[in-house]
Amino acid sequence: MRNTLLLAAASSLLLWGLVAFRPADTLSDDTSVINLLIQLGDTVALRYQDVSTDPEVIQRGREIIELGRTIGPSGRRSDFVSKYYNCTSCHNQVQEDPDLANPNPDDRLKYAQANGLPFLQATTFHGILNRESWYNEDYYKKYGELVYAANHDVREAIQLCAQECAQGRPVEEWEMEAIMAYYRELAFRVSDLNLSASERQTLESGLDDPARSQEMITLLKSKYLTYSPATFGNAPQDKKKGYEGLQGDSENGELVFTLGCQNCHKPEGVSDVVLDKSRFTLKKLKDNLTKGNLYSIYQVIRYGTHPEPGHRPYMPHYTLERMSHQQVEDLRAFIEKGARR
Ligand code: HEC
Ligand code: HEC
Repeated sequence: MRNTLLLAAASSLLLWGLVAFRPADTLSDDTSVINLLIQLGDTVALRYQDVSTDPEVIQRGREIIELGRTIGPSGRRSDFVSKYYNCTSCHNQVQEDPDLANPNPDDRLKYAQANGLPFLQATTFHGILNRESWYNEDYYKKYGELVYAANHDVREAIQLCAQECAQGRPVEEWEMEAIMAYYRELAFRVSDLNLSASERQTLESGLDDPARSQEMITLLKSKYLTYSPATFGNAPQDKKKGYEGLQGDSENGELVFTLGCQNCHKPEGVSDVVLDKSRFTLKKLKDNLTKGNLYSIYQVIRYGTHPEPGHRPYMPHYTLERMSHQQVEDLRAFIEKGARR
């Protein structure tokens, strides 16, 4: 009896020791930054504390995003959100910028090549709940007042995109919550943040200290952008000359063509217009380029094509943050080289 008691006391001491001296597991590489921010009381992240973490709901969200439909909670297969696109026709779901604090199209193109990712008009869903505003800056020029609600509420941004960008229907409430659950899964992890050793130390020592929570929040948020900048660019004044002072690099242009354009302009792609690398196709693109008509790459890249009333697929434009003028000239150099072949 006495022995058992002693044993019990010893083991509970041992247990207590394990709990008390367990190294903080809150900073493992896999920890979600959203969860850390919720724990720190960040007002933006707190909005997501009730978003489901149920694997079944997450899976539904994933299917809505990737396939456009899923089996709903009622057991019935849902209708497609859009007849024309999946969300992933225009959005990646993984990291696409090597430095989350300094996204730019040059590094993104290289990163896309290294990781086999498409080079798309829309921003990645990776870390979308780590952003604090959506449809920023120049997007009001395209969608007018529709962006105001979307600016501060990601659910409104999803509704806007489902109906306007994807030319689809409104998302139902259970679908919205499934998408949100999936988005919460796609939030940044500690390993995405490129923390230096000293930043990691600061976080490890400060996470449990309520007096330092604001400092910790600021540190975490300094490691990524909390919004996607969006600047609309124009076609060059003189389409024959192209963008002033820029010399195209055809090799880089081929990357833009392969990872960008061909992602949609392929057989069975989102667009019926197939852009292959044949001399015939490239010559057609070249002819339109200098004619400066509605099919010129300058036109479609900077302004997109118009969504038709009655709904059909259209091409979204690339903002300057998604494709630089230099990259457009690189693409032109690739097209002109291929057309001469
Ligand atoms: C035809 C292309 C296209 C399709 C399809 C599409 N989107 Fe988008 N989406 C865009 C563009 C372009 C933007 C504005 C640029 C950006 O991503 O920041 C955008 C923006 C967003 C944003 C705001 C991003 C931000 O940071 O500003 C969300 C959220 C979003 N889309 C969700 C969805 C969802 C959910 C679907 C599927 C139901 C979808 N999108 C389908 C092109 C598309
Ligand atoms: C997200 C998908 C997507 C991407 C990426 C994309 N396009 Fe498009 N593009 C479309 C769609 C959709 C249309 C509308 C034509 C249609 O109905 O198929 C279109 C139309 C065009 C047209 C007009 C074609 C015509 O004859 O009507 C050109 C030219 C064009 N795209 C070139 C490009 C180039 C160059 C790139 C790469 C820089 C590119 N596209 C990237 C989807 C895309």
